[in-house]
Amino acid sequence: MEESIMKRFSLEGRVSIVTGAAQGLGLAMAQALAEAGSRIVIGEVNVDKARDAAREISRRYGVEAEAMRCDVTSPEDAAALTDAARERFGRIDVLINNAGIVHHEPAEDVAYENWFKVINVDLNGVFIMSQAVGRAMLAAGRGSIINIASMSGLIVNTPQCQASYNAAKAGVIHLTRSLATEWATRGVRVNAIAPGYMKTAMTASFFENAEHPWVKTWMDMSPMKRPGTPDELGGLAIYLASDASSFTTGGVFVADGGYSAW
Ligand SMILES: NC(=O)c1ccc[n+]([C@@H]2O[C@H](COP(=O)([O-])OP(=O)(O)OC[C@H]3O[C@@H](n4cnc5c(N)ncnc54)[C@H](O)[C@@H]3O)[C@@H](O)[C@H]2O)c1
Repeated sequence: MEESIMKRFSLEGRVSIVTGAAQGLGLAMAQALAEAGSRIVIGEVNVDKARDAAREISRRYGVEAEAMRCDVTSPEDAAALTDAARERFGRIDVLINNAGIVHHEPAEDVAYENWFKVINVDLNGVFIMSQAVGRAMLAAGRGSIINIASMSGLIVNTPQCQASYNAAKAGVIHLTRSLATEWATRGVRVNAIAPGYMKTAMTASFFENAEHPWVKTWMDMSPMKRPGTPDELGGLAIYLASDASSFTTGGVFVADGGYSAW
């Protein structure tokens, strides 16, 4: 008899690594996976805040959770995080590549240093983490990688100038498809989530000021006329992490209140 569909959403006994999960979308997705039963490993540069987040996840959801310092741009950190997760839990089932930064500046003024920084965290970091954790997943013959891209990888936002971010996120989407294709027959699925405007620390300086001209443009252009909240990605994260999505790889899942629909 086929397994019940709701059971296929369970992450009971699984182990998930989430990068940049001290706050914002990463924290909300780590909480969602924990609620579905997964143990959690947070890789963060803000390790103090990440340790508090892990403790709170453990307390609230009754799963083991820990945090480690990991700069996603460092292959050494990525390998160390992978080894630590495997040593502590004996397996890694899920990787959410969530850590990201943004830089707003007209393209003609951007210093190379700022361009490189955004590409390094937002695109190179996704490859570096996927390679390190992907090796462990390929050896185990199973795993799900979820890359947090953005609608900015599909459309160009306005009125703010953020060419480095847009280019990096478009790169994440095609990297997702590339890895998905390479690893499809070896049990490792790779998908991307492309969120629209979400209320987090990354966007707080704008959304805290309802009169901000950018916010007015964003909401005018958004069919739902509101930003998303971090918990609104939880269902998608559980779906992509779990066996409920066993035939899904190389997909890009937009959650943007309809922004890119028209
Ligand atoms: N907020 C939005 O509107 C929005 C929309 C679309 C996509 N996203 C993407 O979602 C992801 C999370 O965004 P958020 O809004 O929660 O951001 P946030 O700034 O609230 O959180 C990002 C986290 O990543 C961590 N981080 C930064 N650089 C890192 C590095 N090199 N290594 C490890 N950790 C690092 C930070 O310490 C921070 O805790 C990002 O990839 C972002 O681009 C956000």
